[in-house]
Amino acid sequence: MRVIAGSARGRRLTAGRGRTVRPTADKVKGALFSSLASRFTVESSTLLDLFAGSGALGIEALSRGAAHVTFVEHAATALPALRENLDRCHFTERARVLPLPVDRAVRHLQREASGFDGVLLDPPYGQGLVTRTLAALDAAGVVRPGAWIAVEHHVDEPPPARCGQFRLTQTRRYGKTGLALFVAEPSMSESPPAAHRLVRAVYPGSFDPITNGHLDVVGRALNVFDHVIVAVADTSSDPAKSGALFSAKDRVAMIHEALANTGGRATADSFSGLLVDYCERIGAQVIIRGLRAVSDFEYEFQMAMMNRHLNPRVETFFMTAGARYFYTSSRLVKQVAGLGGNVRELVPDGVYQRLLAEVRTGSR
Ligand code: PNS
Repeated sequence: MRVIAGSARGRRLTAGRGRTVRPTADKVKGALFSSLASRFTVESSTLLDLFAGSGALGIEALSRGAAHVTFVEHAATALPALRENLDRCHFTERARVLPLPVDRAVRHLQREASGFDGVLLDPPYGQGLVTRTLAALDAAGVVRPGAWIAVEHHVDEPPPARCGQFRLTQTRRYGKTGLALFVAEPSMSESPPAAHRLVRAVYPGSFDPITNGHLDVVGRALNVFDHVIVAVADTSSDPAKSGALFSAKDRVAMIHEALANTGGRATADSFSGLLVDYCERIGAQVIIRGLRAVSDFEYEFQMAMMNRHLNPRVETFFMTAGARYFYTSSRLVKQVAGLGGNVRELVPDGVYQRLLAEVRTGSR
């Protein structure tokens, strides 16, 4: 194992005795640095070498002019070799060794508010460490926008196409070893903002029946999104909403009537099965949910996280209705109407008439 190019070119590196680390083959190391050189400048950069082992990658970068490298290595068997290699190449002053597990080191660097122009990532194979480490780096915000992450991985463990702000831009294969190059960019850069394309939002719910509070949310959503589909679900995740007063068909009809003045920008529909599958089917990128009180939050948060897990391409937006609808809910409207209370102000006229009819039928 030797330094391939730069000021320490030809210097032999030790892999350490009784080592548990897998040193990068010189051929792969050469390929990695020529890929980097074709798109980025290693010279004068501040780098992070994770799962550094005996430090061959970071040392190669220092030899090629990197200003400083932080090496992270936890294995006691690898650390003496890493330190010896830095010493042999006279790089000790441009290097820092963090003898910590990678996840702890990343948190430590976050606390220090460190920022890196590039990351060398060569984790042990077969443990899902590439994605986990990318996610940790993304969350810690220690990789500067425009920076690169060079990943060495086993070909049977292909890296993700994107992980947070990191986008996969290049892959190469050398036998069983894969090289992947990520670039740090804000994830929104791949999706043009709403002004450049039609954004279709689904406003799902039981809507048993639709209230003026719901319609207030629809109006606000139309200020942001191009098309809002108010979608009646035949299955609610809320067990309290299992026995509906109105059939799904009637609920859609009431919504359709209430949206007549939106010029077709808000429409009514119904769906069965998973909400995210429905969104995918109709090309909706957004789910809207109305939030009233803090008590709504936990249920809503769980649903949003579950939907993201099921389909990360669909974003949930929470909107709040106007203050006068703070206490309006379909459940209370039905209850108050059933007990003879006046709900005329709380629901659209068509719904009010149907509620009255229901109450009359119920009391017969
Ligand atoms: O008005 P609701 O009852 O609070 O609305 C809940 C609704 C219909 C949005 C939710 O239960 C739902 O999305 N149901 C469809 C089935 C589904 O996708 N379940 C998983 C969501 S976590």
